[in-house]
Amino acid sequence: MRVVRSVEEVRAQVRAWRKAGQRVALVPTMGNLHAGHISLLQLARQRGDRVVVSIFVNPLQFGPEEDYARYPRTLDDDIRMLEEAQCDLLFAPGVDELYAEGGSQRTLVSVRGLSEILCGVVRPGHFDGVATVVAKLFGVVGPDVAVFGEKDFQQFRVVQLMTRDLAIPVEVVGAPTVRADDGLALSSRNRYLSAEDRSRAPAIYRSLQEGAARLRAGERDFSAIEQAGAALLAAAGMKVDYYAVRDADDLALPSSATREFVLLAAARLGSARLIDNLRVPVG
Ligand code: PAJ
Repeated sequence: MRVVRSVEEVRAQVRAWRKAGQRVALVPTMGNLHAGHISLLQLARQRGDRVVVSIFVNPLQFGPEEDYARYPRTLDDDIRMLEEAQCDLLFAPGVDELYAEGGSQRTLVSVRGLSEILCGVVRPGHFDGVATVVAKLFGVVGPDVAVFGEKDFQQFRVVQLMTRDLAIPVEVVGAPTVRADDGLALSSRNRYLSAEDRSRAPAIYRSLQEGAARLRAGERDFSAIEQAGAALLAAAGMKVDYYAVRDADDLALPSSATREFVLLAAARLGSARLIDNLRVPVG
């Protein structure tokens, strides 16, 4: 695996692959890789001849009170995992490489509406930071296909919409959520959990399964389902940001046109903020 830090080196490598007729797949990450990230890489390998992984802890998507400074940076371990998973190219730029002059970025990409609901309420500006850096990575790498985890379902939808609205010629593919045996979705932020909180954390997935069972049974009193889900999280000691039933296409409130529901939950446990979701086709 080649490891490069500059935009120029990535562009030259991708240009050479493209010239040889190879399809290039990109997996953007912030590092501290786990099995969830590796599953994205494996899907990327099915979709492309060459796989580029980026590792960049993007300051633009962290709020002033958030965990940018303490976000785990484990590049040596990440490189070992990527070698093993047969990644072709790791792009690991410093902040100055992507944002000149120590962080200045005058152009922001904002997916209106979709960025302001659910996680966007609690994390204002977060999805603008995500959309901007992903647009930028698409501009730098120029991949044919890019893979994102459905674990961050709102982020996945923001990226899909951004790509479509800006007519960026990249296919955005979603990958299923990878979970621990007890159901907790793998996340770099799980390491913020104390042992006791870690044992409580699977309640988030259980609450989604309960909501999903009610939807599958034909219940359509969404606010009752939401209240029960939020109560379950609170009973597990979490501070609930939201527990919502939405249309999986656009994350709007479900309507008669809804073909698939998505249950989404976000809650704080100690100093960790956990998110998860579960999709339920309308039967
Ligand atoms: P990060 O949290 O590192 O996640 C990188 C990718 O891995 C995202 O697409 C995320 O949805 C996916 N992922 C994380 N945990 C997963 C799991 N348990 N199962 C499946 N996929 C999982 O998300 C980001 O970084 C950033 O916002 C980024 C898109 C890189 C932009 O900075």
